[in-house]
Amino acid sequence: MTNPQVYARGFASLTAHTVDPLLNLVRKSRAPRLLDLGCGTGVVTAAALALGADVTAVDSDLDMLEYTARAHPHAAVRLAALPELPFPEGGFDAVAGNFVIQHAPDTPATLAELHRVLRPGGTLALSWWKRDEMPATTLLADAAASVGLPKVPDPPRDFDRYTSPAAFTALLKRSGFSGGAVDTIRWRHRVDLATWWDDVTAAAGPRFAFILEQDAATVERIRQAYLALAAPYAEQGFPVCAHLAHATR
Ligand SMILES: C[S@@+](CC[C@H](N)C(=O)[O-])C[C@H]1O[C@@H](n2cnc3c(N)ncnc32)[C@H](O)[C@@H]1O
Repeated sequence: MTNPQVYARGFASLTAHTVDPLLNLVRKSRAPRLLDLGCGTGVVTAAALALGADVTAVDSDLDMLEYTARAHPHAAVRLAALPELPFPEGGFDAVAGNFVIQHAPDTPATLAELHRVLRPGGTLALSWWKRDEMPATTLLADAAASVGLPKVPDPPRDFDRYTSPAAFTALLKRSGFSGGAVDTIRWRHRVDLATWWDDVTAAAGPRFAFILEQDAATVERIRQAYLALAAPYAEQGFPVCAHLAHATR
């Protein structure tokens, strides 16, 4: 469970960057009925509602869903855990999933389900991080290692097999989508480093949960190490890299 308030203040300022490109991709076709997949605190929902879409938002985390429901009462919200979706076939003109596909336990089954709920000609747009170009988060592991903690390997994910643009494009094709492609975008994320540490350790998910499980003195040593390692990014911001997949049913 992620604390939605902490997520909204910190991590959502990072994920918000791809909302416009994502929605531009799905708006290539007329897309009044839009599914926001893994809505979190509703950054995509908010932008899609502002564009006049009829938005349904789903998430597997009840706290996140309740946050979105409260913040965006004009969206329909449903609790749903990928790869399954509680919707009839062909009910959406567009599906936009901002930084959720990497969490789905079965990527091929998830794409098959997204294909099912989209109408013929409907559009799909999905984003995910290029993990090895994300010092804002990877420096957490470096900081922990620098104070002597053993390196904790990233938990394996089904998505690891599809994270490259070539592999994901091939999977889109195998799943029945046409015109599939994956773009790469880079930007700078400018934050106050001390505030970012608080937000990212509290909301970065199971990958970095081990940090806050340490005793208070160790956490403080990791924090100091993180702030030192991140200092070169204080002025210009952290470089960030994400992939954006798009396709048509
Ligand atoms: C990194 S957050 C992105 C949230 C939001 N889309 C954004 O751009 O800020 C990932 C979201 O996916 C949700 N999620 C994770 N696994 C999921 C699954 N199997 N099915 C549906 N949602 C899932 C999480 O609860 C979380 O809200």
